[in-house]
Amino acid sequence: MVSTVFHFLDACRMFGIAQALHLASRWAIRREFLVVQRDLRDPLPVLPAGDAFRWTHLTETDIPRVQALNPSLYEAEIRRRVGEGQDCLLCWLGDTLVHYTWRAMRPAYLPYLGKTIWPLAGDVFVVASFTHPAFRRRGIHTWSINRTAREARESGLSRRLSMVPWWNTPSIRALRKNGCTVAGRIGYWNAGVRRYYFAAGEVHLNHAGVLVRPLPGQGIADPGRQSVSPSRAKVVDR
Ligand SMILES: CC(C)(COP(=O)(O)OP(=O)(O)OC[C@H]1O[C@@H](n2cnc3c(N)ncnc32)[C@H](O)[C@@H]1OP(=O)(O)O)[C@@H](O)C(=O)NCCC(=O)NCCS
Repeated sequence: MVSTVFHFLDACRMFGIAQALHLASRWAIRREFLVVQRDLRDPLPVLPAGDAFRWTHLTETDIPRVQALNPSLYEAEIRRRVGEGQDCLLCWLGDTLVHYTWRAMRPAYLPYLGKTIWPLAGDVFVVASFTHPAFRRRGIHTWSINRTAREARESGLSRRLSMVPWWNTPSIRALRKNGCTVAGRIGYWNAGVRRYYFAAGEVHLNHAGVLVRPLPGQGIADPGRQSVSPSRAKVVDR
């Protein structure tokens, strides 16, 4: 409930109350996320230097700061993500935490979708990002995408993946600026207590979760045929 109110207020901040109400009523019935990919073997745009920012990786002492930045991200969820092997990159301006971004290279359960995504070998999946409301529209998210893509490439990865709600213009603009393209879509219809999932484009949904077809030359078998162990995936169908 707190989380829903927080997200709604955040949407009001981003789009104004009328647009936020319109989006919330559509979102309550049908949730659709664009699945976005970036081939890291292609050159990345060079952005103006973001030297004022300091980037660190989440440690135990940062957890209260992350919660203060986004009160809808509960401590239990932070610890669940860490336990799953996700990494959280933090961006600081002086002593202020201004942005975070979570990344996974292993299967990651996505509470907002109720499914597990299965990154392929060479993939980094960006689970979620958030910029401090007082520091938005300064290019921090755009810079963060660029930075995480560069880091991933330097560590030998070939693709960056993420999901973004279809209406999230700021995020989509930042992704486009970094050369990301839409690989497909995934989401669900809400029908009372049941959800009816759908997937399109290069996105597959099976009993174990979500898979995204590899890029040409990524050297991985068709994920539709890839064997994933359902016992290792938390599949939630409500
Ligand atoms: C989405 C979000 C991360 C963007 O962070 P940010 O640091 O403000 O992003 P940037 O400053 O890099 O802006 C990206 C682009 O969106 C534009 N933008 C920012 N806010 C906007 C708004 N309310 N309406 C339209 N465009 C907007 C910026 O102008 C920029 O485009 P431009 O470079 O062409 O001018 C931030 O709004 C946020 O934390 N939202 C809540 C959580 C969320 O939605 N996370 C992303 C999905 S996981």
